[in-house]
Amino acid sequence: MQDKKNDAPVESKAWSGRFSEPVAELVKRYTASVGFDHRLAAYDIQGSLAHAHMLQAAGILGAEDWAAIQRGLAMIEQEISDGRFKWSLDLEDVHLNIEKRLTDLIGDAGKRLHTGRSRNDQVATDIRLYLRASIDGLLELIRHAQLAFLDLAEKNADTIMPGFTHLQVAQPVTFGHHLMAYFEMLKRDADRLQDCRKRVNRLPLGAAALAGTSYPIDREMVAKELGFDGVCENSLDAVSDRDFAIEFASCAALIMTHLSRLSEELILWMSPRFGFISIADRFCTGSSIMPQKKNPDVPELIRGKTGRINGHLVALLTLMKSQPLAYNKDNQEDKEPLFDTVDTLANTLTILADMMTGITAKPEAMRAAAAQGFATATDLADYMVKKGLPFRDAHEVVALAVRHAETKGCDLSDLPLAELRGFSDLIEDDVFGVLTLEGSLNSRNHIGGTAPNQVRAAIGRARKLLG
Ligand code: ARG
Repeated sequence: MQDKKNDAPVESKAWSGRFSEPVAELVKRYTASVGFDHRLAAYDIQGSLAHAHMLQAAGILGAEDWAAIQRGLAMIEQEISDGRFKWSLDLEDVHLNIEKRLTDLIGDAGKRLHTGRSRNDQVATDIRLYLRASIDGLLELIRHAQLAFLDLAEKNADTIMPGFTHLQVAQPVTFGHHLMAYFEMLKRDADRLQDCRKRVNRLPLGAAALAGTSYPIDREMVAKELGFDGVCENSLDAVSDRDFAIEFASCAALIMTHLSRLSEELILWMSPRFGFISIADRFCTGSSIMPQKKNPDVPELIRGKTGRINGHLVALLTLMKSQPLAYNKDNQEDKEPLFDTVDTLANTLTILADMMTGITAKPEAMRAAAAQGFATATDLADYMVKKGLPFRDAHEVVALAVRHAETKGCDLSDLPLAELRGFSDLIEDDVFGVLTLEGSLNSRNHIGGTAPNQVRAAIGRARKLLG
């Protein structure tokens, strides 16, 4: 189409009629979103089909037009998947690019598709469809990662390691128990995503630009066709709020936060100072200068990418802040953070699941560390409490015994009975049963405790949950 004013060949704009000069080149690039929102094409087509079908069922669109639209959109879908579709910056975004191509292919029927619809409710629908599919994919990836945790935990249900508080040796736990803590975190992460999905899965279409439309539309039909649980019940809210995206980003930030904690531990455990685990070479890299180095790049990057995901959450919150109702172009800025959040999270979870299968525990090093830190001191206190001493007194007795062992450079269990009895005559020779690491572990035999049979029970419950 020729521009009527200056005869310059410009692309037909959906809104160009009101303007007396073309948009400045930089403004065009600044305002266009097609460079990134072309990713929504499949959802845009899906939404358009449902909309057109409803228009036809409501008698707003003729049967021939409906047939042409279906044919045209199928062709466009094919062009896009073949990489033949020509995206044009002049056409601003994914919606106008597809609509223009449809009109080129099928004529006036293409121009009728936008009846009773605006890009405002169209884009809100596209993002929700995209996010719903992304959440479903991520839930599956979390499940895979959880299975990898379960396999490693099962292998290590009896593997003794020191449990830490303040990063100081506290009490013995099993490596399996420690890993199951992450399983629990991921379980809540998955729950949160499922809950978020409910609020994502509502249909904005029908809200049109902001106030609804004068056509006799059937929003319930469109919702059903697109698999939404229902419609957004206020048109102004439907086109303008992106709280569902913010909520998703906060779920993602929590997942990454959990994984950053794990990553930090893997990095520590892999360092020769701990030497608790090895990570398969395919997840590590070497140094270009220090030939001896094997660096835990993958956990370091997971830790680092957590910052990136937190940043996206803040970006989305900030773009929504103070926006007056209803739609504002600010909302176009929701896409890049959202896409990157989904991509980063998907890649992280995929690589994490694989990496967990490449982790091997080093039980001797773990055991030696647990044996070094007076990890059974609490057990000695509990032993005396069970013989009638108040806990606070028992705590004091053990503190003195620990000090004594420390000056001798040995563990509590290495002190002869006579020396131990010097601290309390409640101590008898059955004390060595509780001072051993195994004794300590086995005594924590309740749901949520670290006793190996409880860890196995937890793994059993977890497997059942995952189905
Ligand atoms: N590209 C726009 C976005 O991502 C689509 C909606 C544009 N609506 C408008 N009134 N300019 O939000």
